[in-house]
Amino acid sequence: MNRFAHITGWGTSVPANVMTNADMANIIDTTDEWIRSRTGIAQRHIAEAGQSSASLGAEAALKALKVANKGPHDIDLIIVATSSPEHIFPSTASLVQDRIGATHAGAFDLSAACTGFIIAINMAAQAIRTGSIDTALVIGTETLSRLVDWEDRATCILFGDGAGAFVLQASQESGGVLSAVMRSDGSGGDLLSIPAGGSKLPTSAKTVQDRQHFIQMNGREVFRFATRVMAQATEDVVHKANFALSDINWVVPHQANLRIIETAAKRLKLPLERFVINLERYGNTSTASIPLATVEAVTDGRIQPGDRVVFVGFGAGLTWGAVAVQWTGPLPLDKPKVWPYRLHGLYRIYIKLRSWGLKVSRLIEGVVWGRRRS
Ligand code: ACO
Repeated sequence: MNRFAHITGWGTSVPANVMTNADMANIIDTTDEWIRSRTGIAQRHIAEAGQSSASLGAEAALKALKVANKGPHDIDLIIVATSSPEHIFPSTASLVQDRIGATHAGAFDLSAACTGFIIAINMAAQAIRTGSIDTALVIGTETLSRLVDWEDRATCILFGDGAGAFVLQASQESGGVLSAVMRSDGSGGDLLSIPAGGSKLPTSAKTVQDRQHFIQMNGREVFRFATRVMAQATEDVVHKANFALSDINWVVPHQANLRIIETAAKRLKLPLERFVINLERYGNTSTASIPLATVEAVTDGRIQPGDRVVFVGFGAGLTWGAVAVQWTGPLPLDKPKVWPYRLHGLYRIYIKLRSWGLKVSRLIEGVVWGRRRS
């Protein structure tokens, strides 16, 4: 019996706080004209104090579940692709799992920088096709504003915060995720990195003083690499899926720089109108950029069920990749309508209480266990 992995739900979450290029020019030596002409970016959203990669990811996830008519208990696996995890560990995926009350789900983070969402879709699809799981939540979520060097005008103008999520489900109907390409070239690891804070350069007064906990990038080299691999990965993934470039209805590229997308379109001889582009309003949101663009195009009716869509991206690592899908939309209901999930507001209170309850029970267990040992 063949199993296929379909994208059946989607959702996004972006901070309300917007920072325009004019706002940027108030803190660094730049201009709206420079940023727009070099990148295509006009503004980005910046997380507020209470927001985090997990909180934005959880919001996007709940919206995606609603579209798919699934409850948090239906999820078997959560993969969070992120370049700005809350911690080295625990994984942001586990924090999202707790925040949405996905009590039956496994959870892990996937680190492949901006290519992470593409790889996460492929990993979830593979797990669904093998029969290992039925329902997965794939999330791209970022608070990169906390990791950029606000004194480095060449990088801080590029990035923004936000999250997007897809629900992937098993079905015997053909379609859904058709093929994938995943590539890496670690020899270019130094071109885009956060040098310190890991095991190679643990945090010290010197690493902080040298600003090594912020994003460092060789923009020109990354630009050259990106223009080369975007077209190649698109060609490869389409070839693997057994259709032609001209059959693509939509390309949803990683939203890093308009000039990179234009060059890829030229190389592929595809009209730019077939590319979903929204970086003007969000900047580069790394792993969140592809779902943020996709959800906009689905919501405004550009992407329709049956459309052939290619997601293609690149990022630090270096990494790059693409996924070809036949867009599905929500599957026919397999059970009565699930949402509003146990009356939304009440459910949120319940999952918070549940999380605190688990913490308290661990505390009590620890005390009792400690007494028994002594
Ligand atoms: N405002 C004004 N001037 C600036 C700014 C700014 N914000 N930033 C740099 N400049 C200046 C530089 O100082 C330089 O001045 P100089 O010639 O006097 O030395 C000049 O502009 C040109 O600088 P370049 O770095 O050569 O500018 P370039 O045209 O390459 O554009 C950019 C820079 C936009 C960063 C481009 O290289 C780029 O988009 N690269 C790809 C980056 C990318 O996509 N990264 C994300 C990867 S995804 C991930 O994994 C996170």
